Order: sequence, then C-alpha cells, then structure tokens
Amino acid sequence: MPIYKNGKPVTASDGSVMHCHGAGILEYGGYYYLFGEDRRDRRRVSCYRSKDLVNWEFRNICLSLDSETKRHYVRTDLRLAPKNSGPMTPEEAAAISLQPIGHRGANIERPKVLYCEATGKFVMWMHFENGRDYNAARCAVAVCDTVDGDYVYMGSFNPVGNMSRDCTLYKDDDGTAYFISSARDNADMMIYRLSEDYLTVAEHVKTLWPGQFREAPVLFKENGKYYMLTSRCTGWSPNQSGWAEADAIDGHWSSIRPFGNETTFNTQPTAVVKVGDVWLYIGDRWDPSDYLNSTMVYLPINLENGCSIDWASEVNIDGGKITTFAGDIGELRIMLPGCTDYLGGDGYNVFTKKLAYANTGLLWLVEEKSGCVVLRHKDSGRCLSSEGVLDEYKDGDDRLLWELRDADEGKLFINRRTGKSLLAFGRRVILTDGDDRHFGGYTFVKNY
Ligand code: DGJ
Repeated sequence: MPIYKNGKPVTASDGSVMHCHGAGILEYGGYYYLFGEDRRDRRRVSCYRSKDLVNWEFRNICLSLDSETKRHYVRTDLRLAPKNSGPMTPEEAAAISLQPIGHRGANIERPKVLYCEATGKFVMWMHFENGRDYNAARCAVAVCDTVDGDYVYMGSFNPVGNMSRDCTLYKDDDGTAYFISSARDNADMMIYRLSEDYLTVAEHVKTLWPGQFREAPVLFKENGKYYMLTSRCTGWSPNQSGWAEADAIDGHWSSIRPFGNETTFNTQPTAVVKVGDVWLYIGDRWDPSDYLNSTMVYLPINLENGCSIDWASEVNIDGGKITTFAGDIGELRIMLPGCTDYLGGDGYNVFTKKLAYANTGLLWLVEEKSGCVVLRHKDSGRCLSSEGVLDEYKDGDDRLLWELRDADEGKLFINRRTGKSLLAFGRRVILTDGDDRHFGGYTFVKNY
C-alpha cells in the first residue's frame, strides 16, 4: 500500500534522501515528475519521478551552477555562478540572508515545469536570486528537449520590469500558460500570460490583492472555477495560507479566505496534483534552522464547501484513491510573532537557537539546561524555562513563575507569585514576568 508519511524525509529509489523543495509536479508519460530545489553542492534543481507519489526515483540534476546557458531574449542575465566559484567560506555562509547554499552562485527557488505542445519542449520557470540576498527578485527560464534532461538556462529577468519572487506556473485547458509571481517586495501577486513558446512573458494580465503581501502561489482549476492558494510572508516560518476563486483567470478574484489552520499544519503551499477526483495539496514543511531537513506534506483538498484541508499524518494513495489517517499531532510549540523561528518540537533537548523578531534582531537565546529549555532574554539576561511539556516556566533562579493550564477557551497562564492568570486569546498570549513586565506575545501552535 503506497502510504506517504507527512513531514518525514523520503528515501528515493537510489537510497538517498530526496531533496526537492519548493517543488512543482508535471504529469507526463504515465509518471508524476517532481522538480524542486536542491541546494547541495552545485546542484540547484533536481527531478524525481513516481507512479504513485509515494515511491520516488531520482532522475537528474536538471539545473546546476554548471548548466549550459543560452541567450534567448536580449536582456536576460545568464549568470548562474561567478567565475571560479567554489564552496562558501563559513564567514560568507554566515553573512548571507539566505539559508546557506553551499557554493557561491545563484539561489534558485520554486522551479516549475510545463510541457509546451507548440514547440515540443519542456520549459522551467523559477525564482532567481544572486545567492547572497533576496534583492535580485527575478524570474528565470530554462528549457529542455526531454522532461528530465539537462535544462539549458536562458537567463533571469524582471517580468515587465517587475520584481518577481515566489512563483508558480499554470497551463490552461487551451494550452495558454501563465506565470504567477509576487511583485513589489511581495506586496502584489501578478499573473502574466506567457508567449506561445512559454519562454517569456507576453503580457501582464492581473494584479491580485495589491498591498496584501502574499507568497507561495499555487493555481488549479476544478469545474470551470480557478482556485489560488497563497501564504502570507513570514520567511521560513509557516503562517495561515489562504485560498481565493475566480471564474476567469484574468477576471474578478475573490478576497482571500483562510486555508488550513494558523500554520497551514506547519506547511507553505508549493504544488497541487489531481489524484482521481481529488486535488492533493503539497506543502513544504520548512526547517528554519536547517533548510536541508525540510520535508513535504500531502493533504487532500476538500472543495465541497469552499476549499479546505484537514490534518492527516499519513496519506494512502492507492489506485487513484486517497485515504488518510489523522494520527498524532504532537506537542505544542511556541512561536513569537514576526519571529523567524520556533521553540519546541523535536529539537527540544538538543539545540541552542536564537529567536529574533524579523526586523529588530535577536531577542531571546534558547538554551538547553539540564533537560529543560531555557529562554534567556538578550538584554535582561533573565530566563524562562519549560520542563519538557509547556506547563511550567521558571526564572534563572529556578523560581516557578508561571504555570500553563488548559482552559475552556485556550490556555491559562497562572502567575505563581501574584496568583494572577493570563488567558490565551485563541492561541495568542501575553506573558509577564513576576513584576508584570511583558515578555512579549507568543503564539502557541500545535507541532504538526
Ligand atoms: C518564503 C518563500 O516562500 C520561500 O520560497 C523562501 O523564499 C523563504 N520565504 C525565504 O525566507
């Protein structure tokens, strides 16, 4: 029985762990072809194929820093790697605002591939960055005669002059292809119609949700209706995704409604694929502390009443039918708002992490101390700690400060010194120390 275990590393047929992040799926010749980010060494896009979405066969590194390049449109930038580029020094790796990518050179994200009937070629669109930061904000195109061959890189550019980051491709029933990407520092989501050869943008057809800052677009169509999934913008930390619908791709799009729970079950959309009558959602479960530990999550989409997913820890894909097993949802995690990292989960006993607000720098150091996790505040040096389960918080002198208890509507924090309690509003709470000083707002999320 082909059972996919959500959030677990997948071993491909060659015995190695799959690296195929920000992936897209193309159905071709009786296989599902998965193209995704592979940041090891000089690799950039790897391809795997499967008949059942569970057992994957490694096929090729379709794009690397050493790929052949060919100019197609005059103003594309063909650079993939600086001359004599080698591995990054630890200092260089530490200085970049990307997750380390091993070798100096382009950072490629969210590659997606379509087959172009008009030319008989396979065309890959992706998000290009220079490998140091996210300032280039360009899309890039590569092309190949075979589905999983060596793609020829045709350069990066700004579509219609726009910034272009998270992206996807969509091919309509009549063969018209669209490229969808975040523009204006992610404030707007753009839809572009592609040229007939799929190699460049023919026109900008729609600006969606201006100023609403969306990422991770995924587009599909069911019963004549277009659906788009997108996430909010919180770096590598998950957030609640949204879905929207339209009767025409360049027509009126609805506003965005919630999709999944507050973390989209700890995922960010990357692809969808139809299995029998059901659309299967594929999300990246990013590991913010180690990109290469990131995994994929499959969840069947329910379109009966809007567009929704429920949690399942296992997805059984058998003969075009999907059944799920809800399973264990794990422990609670703490997430600081606007934060790039979590506290909690499997890493509880093994790591020292830094929690920082996105724009204000380091706020907490998370340390392991005699089996406990301790949050040490950067400025005051004061600590909060939790004893394995998130039920007690102590200060640096081992005095119990808070107790966390279940309450009818969420979580109740009891301040052990004052006896005062603080109720979690939904999943958000304000913690104060013994002197009632605020330690900040936390979001408690289930560790899916
Ligand atoms: C979220 C995007 O969806 C990812 O593809 C990646 O660009 C991260 N942001 C980087 O922070």
